[in-house]
Amino acid sequence: MRLTVNGVEHDLDLDPRTTVLDALREHLGLTGAKKGCDHGQCGACTVLLDGRRVNSCLVLAVAQQDTEITTIEGLGSEAEPHPVQRGFLDHDGFQCGYCTPGQICSAVGMLDEVARGWPSAATQPGAGEADLLSDAEIRERMSGNLCRCGAYPNMVPAIRQAAGR
Ligand code: FES
Ligand code: FES
Repeated sequence: MRLTVNGVEHDLDLDPRTTVLDALREHLGLTGAKKGCDHGQCGACTVLLDGRRVNSCLVLAVAQQDTEITTIEGLGSEAEPHPVQRGFLDHDGFQCGYCTPGQICSAVGMLDEVARGWPSAATQPGAGEADLLSDAEIRERMSGNLCRCGAYPNMVPAIRQAAGR
């Protein structure tokens, strides 16, 4: 099968049951996305599929051959970090870092959802664009990504900085 990851095409000979997460980690050497639970419960494996955030442990690689896959390795560089990466650095939004690639990919996808005006479970009736990045909104929108270190308080301002708020 052919997978396009961070703008590069890869031809791979994989078992059709291989998940995107295992294809990335075990066959392409891209170990940024982490395997926390392998059950869609922790968000450590979050990557972007055509810009949408997805738990890559739940998606079969064979079904993503026409998809642009973006991982933490493709978001920014050490010299030029993505604004969300910059926010996490500036606000110390991590401790051990195990959940961090998933948190950052999820935040990138989440900010795109906010830009599109998509509501969350925390969105109040009549909320304006400025309300979509309140603390409650950010926490709800990021609630699929767990952090066993409890670095959540610093992730909120990190994400708000990246959003330019
Ligand atoms: Fe995919 Fe936990 S490893 S959600
Ligand atoms: Fe350690 Fe989140 S920083 S799990």
